[in-house]
Amino acid sequence: MTATVSSQSATAAGGAPAEAGPRFPEGFVWGAATAAYQIEGAAAEDGRGPSIWDTFSRTPGRVVAGHTGDIACDHYHRYADDVALMAELGLASYRYSISWPRIQPDGTGPVNTRGLDFYDRLTDELLAKGIDPVVTLYHWDLPQTLQDRGGWTVRETAEAFAEYARIAFRRLGDRVQTWTTLNEPWCSAYLGHASGRHAPGVTDPAAAFAAVHHLLLGHGLAARALRAGGAEQVSITLNPTAVYPADPDSLADVEAAQLVDGLHNRIFLDPLLRGRYPVDIIEHMRHFTDLAWLRDGDEQLINAPLDVLGVNFYQPTYVSAQPGAPAAADSPGTEGIAFRDPLGPVTDMNWQIEPAALTRLLERIHRDYHGIPMLITENGAAYPDGPGADGGVHDLDRIAYLDGHLRACHEALSSGVDLRGYFVWSLMDNFEWAEGYAKRFGIVHVDYTTQTRVVKDSARWYQEVIRRNGLAGRARAEE
Ligand code: FCB
Repeated sequence: MTATVSSQSATAAGGAPAEAGPRFPEGFVWGAATAAYQIEGAAAEDGRGPSIWDTFSRTPGRVVAGHTGDIACDHYHRYADDVALMAELGLASYRYSISWPRIQPDGTGPVNTRGLDFYDRLTDELLAKGIDPVVTLYHWDLPQTLQDRGGWTVRETAEAFAEYARIAFRRLGDRVQTWTTLNEPWCSAYLGHASGRHAPGVTDPAAAFAAVHHLLLGHGLAARALRAGGAEQVSITLNPTAVYPADPDSLADVEAAQLVDGLHNRIFLDPLLRGRYPVDIIEHMRHFTDLAWLRDGDEQLINAPLDVLGVNFYQPTYVSAQPGAPAAADSPGTEGIAFRDPLGPVTDMNWQIEPAALTRLLERIHRDYHGIPMLITENGAAYPDGPGADGGVHDLDRIAYLDGHLRACHEALSSGVDLRGYFVWSLMDNFEWAEGYAKRFGIVHVDYTTQTRVVKDSARWYQEVIRRNGLAGRARAEE
């Protein structure tokens, strides 16, 4: 039997001998994550239609010049070798996403069975190696045809998404137990429609809020469809952040943090888990939109029962009140608020490294949202690493990052958070959206010219963590 995210034993993190490091609960799920557009390549193969990321990556000035997902890690052809690598590392679970335009090239209408066949083969390969698949239905690659009809700013896309979920479930539901609807709707809505740093590259706050709603509605409709089909576990992955006032003694900073928390976290968590948008955020959105998209009954639809919440975590957010400041490009509605630049150590993304913020975030979600079971569906770090003279990749900084965040997870477990597993981002270096191939998040190195995979030291370290279901007595970086 393979481990599944339902097989948690207890929330107590337990029983390690004094000299050993933290141990995780029995059945804690160890995995790695990827996403279709970031690794598959084969962009025009077997009937796949174009997605908004194909369009975006070809639009001058949007993505590092010349970088597209056309070939990526060529995982579409190399999936069997990649699964063998996962097995060698001892992964219990693998989180992959399905490319909607492979399944329905136009987003609605005819089903492309050759697209489904690929996920069939991948799933069987995983199961044959004892690896439990966790499927994400939407990791940002919207079929271009749907974008041409309004994308996530219109209700029809939410309805189409539920139909696509039904199709995918019909083919894979007998083998896939855990179904995640969306990955990080915050990014799809705000990066895609406010700052335009991500596809489809729109810059309109009203469109961003409409997208938030239709993404959530799409989740609700798909979650119901999956449940009706008999899905064992239904989830959604968010990227909630721990928001701190830059000066905790400043009332204005505390209020700024509350608003940013609302626009980033509660706008998703409240309708999903409480069945209502937060009142303060509804009022705030009225500065930008008449909310015509919000229909009676929508919030109940969004509030479909969830078995587990996926949490992607990379860095905390610090804000302060700054009268007159324009809104941050990625965060519509944050006029008068300044986002602090990272302090202290950062990764190659210039993201602040602060594992304690993850503990605090998990404890907060646990407390405010009825102890919802959670999975870390992504956590990891980019560093500009590559093979050294001895052919190895000695990524001690990544090991330190992962070690610190796993200790943070363990602390949350010790305080009673129902955390069921951890997926490192990412299994291998891949197409990092607007950054193209310039940022490397993998625990496996990819040479994009030869497609050679080199297992980094962090992957060997992770293999050891999985083997002992825990961490060493001290962080490697300190040894
Ligand atoms: C997350 C995305 C994932 C990857 C990491 C670094 O926001 O879900 O695809 O790009 O960031």
